[in-house]
Amino acid sequence: MCGIMGYIGSRDAAGIVIKGLECLEYRGYDSAGIALAEGHKIGISKCVGSVANLKAQLEKCSLNGKMGIGHTRWATHGGVTRENAHPHVDPDGRVVLIHNGIIENFHELGEEFAQKGVRFASETDTEVAAFLISSLYRDDPLLAIREACARLRGAFAFVILFADIADRYYCVRKGPSLVLGAAGGEAFCASDVTALLPYTNNVLFMEDEEIAELSAEGISLYGFDGARKEARLHLVDWDASMTSKGMYPHFMLKEIEEQGNVLRRTLAGRLEGGVINLSAEFPFSDEDARLFRRIHFVACGTSCHASAVAGRLADRYTGLDVRVEAASEYRYGNVVCDEGTLAVFVSQSGETADTLAAARLARIKGARCLAVTNVVSSSLGREVGAVLELRAGPEIGVAATKTFMGQLAALTLLTLWIGKQKGFLVPQKEKRLCAEMARLPLKVEDILAQGEDVRKIAERYQDLSAFLFIGRGISYPVAMEGALKLKEISYVHAEAHAAGEMKHGPIALLDKRMPVVAVAPRDGIYEKTLSSIQESRARKAPIITVASRGDKDIRRFSDDGFFVPETEEELTPFLTVIPLQLFAYHLASILGREIDRPRNLAKSVTVE
Ligand code: AGP
Repeated sequence: MCGIMGYIGSRDAAGIVIKGLECLEYRGYDSAGIALAEGHKIGISKCVGSVANLKAQLEKCSLNGKMGIGHTRWATHGGVTRENAHPHVDPDGRVVLIHNGIIENFHELGEEFAQKGVRFASETDTEVAAFLISSLYRDDPLLAIREACARLRGAFAFVILFADIADRYYCVRKGPSLVLGAAGGEAFCASDVTALLPYTNNVLFMEDEEIAELSAEGISLYGFDGARKEARLHLVDWDASMTSKGMYPHFMLKEIEEQGNVLRRTLAGRLEGGVINLSAEFPFSDEDARLFRRIHFVACGTSCHASAVAGRLADRYTGLDVRVEAASEYRYGNVVCDEGTLAVFVSQSGETADTLAAARLARIKGARCLAVTNVVSSSLGREVGAVLELRAGPEIGVAATKTFMGQLAALTLLTLWIGKQKGFLVPQKEKRLCAEMARLPLKVEDILAQGEDVRKIAERYQDLSAFLFIGRGISYPVAMEGALKLKEISYVHAEAHAAGEMKHGPIALLDKRMPVVAVAPRDGIYEKTLSSIQESRARKAPIITVASRGDKDIRRFSDDGFFVPETEEELTPFLTVIPLQLFAYHLASILGREIDRPRNLAKSVTVE
């Protein structure tokens, strides 16, 4: 969850590390810190709050160096204090370390040190790792790191400086991601490839249980067993401009507005001649596909909502036994999952700890696994092997928007493709859906052009403190996504219910201070949703609807409405979600929230 950046080379390390941390701040922003090595002297600066605070603090002191490591924290163990900010140092000042992850046995190890009279300066699980490595270090840093790793339980990505080594630093990965880059006498490391893009797009994604030594000569890679490994770099086709806000006030708004193009990219080459063609990417043979009996969609948060849309399509078109589940539940359930199961793991980052653990479990049980992710070389991509790529480009805003759109597109293609192999999707319907999918980017852009109207509606609701979202069928996951967006960036309470469930409890909440946001495009169950709207209105709840353009009936029952172009019923989520993203964005902006960095959240949840 935390952000890590490291550098060695001929330039001033502080500038590069700070710039990297700014780019990674979406991963954590409770506190920040940096260590700079000048010869054998290591200077440390840390503070509570954002990287901007760290930068200002650094400008007032004279820390320098051509080697440096930095950290932006999302607190797990220990409160948000300067003492708990990274880097951490052992009592003798020999090892300086930053960490992303959780060390599960830190109490036990801490006790051992405490009995020897050692005092800890922080409440973190990280400090014990610095102590441990230092206690094991004689003259071989690799050996000390390996011995320490053998004693540590949990998940960790470390970047380590040794005070007596001026020309190298070390990276360790067991769990949370670390990406390395080397070019022209410089070597970098970061939690996320986006921080490396200004310098190189030739990168190495560290595997689990690897240690890397980074110097001006490049990268040397080792396994936890000490064996040397080949450090093979990969070219990523993202560039630094994709990670800048441009003229937008927030990444979230930029990313919402990119959604038409995201769809064009995700669909490109996969819809050809009016039919779906995934044959080059679908890793299983037609025969395999015909033998699948079950399909599982497993994911977290927004990715789980996209999965729920796909689950409803799979119910309709694949004839398979469909299960959609949060990865955090799936990994601990006794799920029936075997060689007749296609298990689809959906994650924009490909680094979510629960999704990764669920994928490992399904693989062990013999399921045929597929990752649907934006980062092909992510941990999930590598764990699962078979990947359907979103092609959404890097997403920086903590609230996922354009990757949700990419997921809807990739999962719709995938589900319909399987339906086609299984003979449930007839050619005529396939043609209709394909033709309409090709029209979606323009329809998305048509909705985006009315962003200002959404702002005016949001202004009218700025004083209310709770919202209820409802939808039926394929619109229910859209309602869930709308509620999630609103709560995560505006901190306004929002919950979503299947419209038909209202009478079973939630309706008790309704009064004139509890608006109901109803996702009600014209589809086969439209009239049922309309009844739920009327029942809510009868309880005096203000009604905000997301409906199909030209729907005059719904206007009569709505206080405010967002209207989206008509489309095939199966594709309505592509359009109905956009006003909800914009509503959340504008309400959060009116309330003055930190939109791209909402409190308590981090972009990638790499710990359980
Ligand atoms: C989305 O707005 C959230 N920030 C969050 O729910 C996110 O979707 C979830 O953590 C899953 O992330 P992933 O897609 O990278 O696995």
